[in-house]
Amino acid sequence: MKIIYLLAYIMIMSVCTFSLSGCNRSGTADVEVAPEDNVPINSNPTKIPDSGLHGKQDWDSSNIELDSDIHDAEIITIGFVQVGHESAWREAATESVLDTFSRDNGYELMFIDSDNNSDYQKQAAMQFIEQKIDYLIIDPIVTGGWDNVLKAAKEAGVKVFVIDRTIDCDESMYEAWFGSDFEAEGEAAGAWLEAYLKDKGREKEDISIVTVAGTKGSAARKGRTKGFSKYIKKNDNWTKLAEKDGEFTKESGKRIMEEFIIKYGKIDVVVCHNDNEAWGAMEALDEAGITYGMGGDTILISFDAVYESLEYVLSGKINADFECNPLSAPYIEDAIRRIESGRHVVSKTNYIDEACFQAENNVYTIEYAGRTSKMITVTEQVLKSRAY
Ligand code: AHR
Repeated sequence: MKIIYLLAYIMIMSVCTFSLSGCNRSGTADVEVAPEDNVPINSNPTKIPDSGLHGKQDWDSSNIELDSDIHDAEIITIGFVQVGHESAWREAATESVLDTFSRDNGYELMFIDSDNNSDYQKQAAMQFIEQKIDYLIIDPIVTGGWDNVLKAAKEAGVKVFVIDRTIDCDESMYEAWFGSDFEAEGEAAGAWLEAYLKDKGREKEDISIVTVAGTKGSAARKGRTKGFSKYIKKNDNWTKLAEKDGEFTKESGKRIMEEFIIKYGKIDVVVCHNDNEAWGAMEALDEAGITYGMGGDTILISFDAVYESLEYVLSGKINADFECNPLSAPYIEDAIRRIESGRHVVSKTNYIDEACFQAENNVYTIEYAGRTSKMITVTEQVLKSRAY
């Protein structure tokens, strides 16, 4: 372990404020662990205090202050380059990382909010590597263009973990990845829609579909589109009218949905690549006077399944929501502890278990990606059990 003490919490954009209230919910996280040992998930995380993450106009290495007064050889230094703060999901993921790699747990965490700017993110990662931190955690905005960063990390002896989204590279370039099976999430949505239409006696009807997609080049978008497309191919009567980049935000989700409504009028199915986009799409549909959700003209599908969205599933506004679990940080911490104690990280690719939710109690199980999953019909009880 290197004896370098970096006391800096940095942000790129001052526009980012971490409104983390509302992300935590008491209850137990329903995840299973891919690694050998189960890591206890903090099921009732405390709200993080103001960590001084606000206020920096531009990312700049001079913002990093070295605190030379602290000399504790046990402290492990971590640099985390986060995607941004575009969604409720992202806020929950950030909170999980900050909570996991806290001072009390023996970590000095340097945090970058890249504000969805891929160049900034890579530049920040390089800067962390130059500071010779112990571990670099990357949540890559896009899958491509990481070769120089990964090479520099290897040469500097900085161990890299990848969280949430994936990188296009040889897996020898990082210690391990922990995150979601995005392609399986897309397949789950397709399998559910198939079963739902069948239950409604609409399996032979022509079905028009639009997708409000996530950030171009991101693993989450690529996987969800790839998975769902398998079901579009399989069902001759399904037509995908369009897919447009909603950047995983509510504002873009609304704007894209407005464009779709103007161009296509009535649409049978709207697939949103995350909850924030779905909330934006809902506003656009409301303003256009188009009904959606349970009993509506348009079927609304979303991904993430954060608490607020599950409330919309409960009220029937969103028909189905496929979970993307933001609580991967404890698994990375477990892997770091392994490395620090001379053990090996069990597996390179580690998927976190995720659940599938629906408004109506009419689809019981779905089969996709070689697995069978239960569709959970959202009730007050289900809501109470959610961790985020
Ligand atoms: O990479 C995970 C995706 O990114 C989530 O679905 C979305 O909400 C986030 O912004």
